[in-house]
Amino acid sequence: MISQSQSCALIATIIFVLATQIIIGVNSFPESDKIRTLPQQPKVEFQQYAGYITVDEVQKRALFYYFVEAEVEPASKPVVLWLNGGPGCSSVGAGAFVEHGPFKPTENGLIKNDYSWNKVANMLYLESPAGVGFSYSANKSFYDSVNDEITARDNLVFLQHWFSKFQEYKNNDFFITGESYAGHYVPQLAQIIVQTKSKFNLKGIAIGNPLLEFNTDFNSRAEFLWSHGLISDSTYETFTKVCNYSQIRREYQNGRATIVCSRVNRLVSMEISRYIDSYDVTLDVCLPSEKQQAYILTQLQEGEKIDVCEEDETITYLNRKDVQLALHAKLVGIPLWSTCSGILKYDMQNLEIPTISILGKLVKSGVRVLVYSGDQDSVIPLLGTRSLVNGLAKDFGLNTTNSYRAWFNERQVAGWTQIYGGGILSFATIRGASHEAPFSQPGRSLGLLKAFLEGKPLPTIL
Ligand SMILES: *[C@@H]1O[C@H](CO)[C@@H](O)[C@H](O)[C@H]1NC(C)=O
Ligand SMILES: *[C@@H]1O[C@H](CO)[C@@H](O)[C@H](O)[C@H]1NC(C)=O
Ligand SMILES: *[C@@H]1O[C@H](CO)[C@@H](O)[C@H](O)[C@H]1NC(C)=O
Repeated sequence: MISQSQSCALIATIIFVLATQIIIGVNSFPESDKIRTLPQQPKVEFQQYAGYITVDEVQKRALFYYFVEAEVEPASKPVVLWLNGGPGCSSVGAGAFVEHGPFKPTENGLIKNDYSWNKVANMLYLESPAGVGFSYSANKSFYDSVNDEITARDNLVFLQHWFSKFQEYKNNDFFITGESYAGHYVPQLAQIIVQTKSKFNLKGIAIGNPLLEFNTDFNSRAEFLWSHGLISDSTYETFTKVCNYSQIRREYQNGRATIVCSRVNRLVSMEISRYIDSYDVTLDVCLPSEKQQAYILTQLQEGEKIDVCEEDETITYLNRKDVQLALHAKLVGIPLWSTCSGILKYDMQNLEIPTISILGKLVKSGVRVLVYSGDQDSVIPLLGTRSLVNGLAKDFGLNTTNSYRAWFNERQVAGWTQIYGGGILSFATIRGASHEAPFSQPGRSLGLLKAFLEGKPLPTIL
């Protein structure tokens, strides 16, 4: 037993230690996860952390995260979790190093990203579920049947442990963001946070080119391709009346393609041509090196603004041993890090789970929802997304409070937006953006994020 005076002394010591920590700004963050510097990284003033959070002690399942503090005043800025989709693709590889992290890999090392999202937030990139990127399960059987439910549960456990490691951020505003198949991950995670009354300060979610409803999303592809001139009038007819894209996807997913649908699929692919990136129909493609010579010969315009080969450079960078060492990352049961997992067998039937109504429930419980679309994406086209959000607003009695209008960034129209229910639900397009919107329109994407985090309407003037 300790005496009263001893305990008083103890309390005094604790108060003293805490006070000094506050005064000199020492935090309790895990030193072992702190990144000294990344190989070939430009000098920066903010801190970075990376490492593992165990989500299952018995099965030794651990998720890898990369946390980038805000450039200035991190303590007063929100924490933003980012999730890429797939299912099975890496948020570190795509989100952090191709889209909106602080650095971009080039042949000559990392360069600073002028539109990094850590200008407005503390960014938390999570490779999820286990089997993606550096995240792993020591018991490999785990990979054989992963689904949305498991992913959401593991992500929740991750957050609980992560916030207890990074206590100082527990009371900051918290947002969950992501794109593509994260149209499942993000709402589902937000939903169990609300349901379990987890003590995070969840304020809102933002999802880009999200898969929300299988039929509507995939069937909007035909009209998108046709209206962008990628398929002919007659093929459009066939693609809507004879066999639509949701049916094609369903058949291929189940490994039972009918003759009629395979014929339609071939026709569509042939007209589009192989040299189109379906994730951005206007963007040039990154050609494999053996084809590059011919490509350079036929290339007429100079001065590419976007590095369309960024993904390849990221793969090279994240596979460097010195980079993995700096990130405290390890390869467990895989020979190489890859953008999308080669070992994970995700339950593809889950693609058909509609998540649109979850958005409605979140809105009802006071979580702000932003759905945005890079408008050059033919995989999850804005057409389907916009009509889904419109339908949701109608179903949940959310009136339009700001009608469809252009929004601006850097003195140009950056897209169009519509606001419902006084801002609790909003839709926005990003003009000239791909499926990975922050990759092809980094400035506009940052502008959108900033307004969303601040809860302000998007800029209306030049
Ligand atoms: C490994 O995981 C599978 C599936 O999750 C489980 O059925 C099995 O019991 C686990 N094996 C061990 C040794 O824990
Ligand atoms: C897609 O095709 C299937 C099969 O013909 C049909 O049942 C379904 O209604 C179609 N969907 C749309 C949105 O047209
Ligand atoms: C939405 O609009 C309808 C029709 O104009 C109106 O009756 C209703 O009161 C509005 N709802 C809200 C929440 O403002």
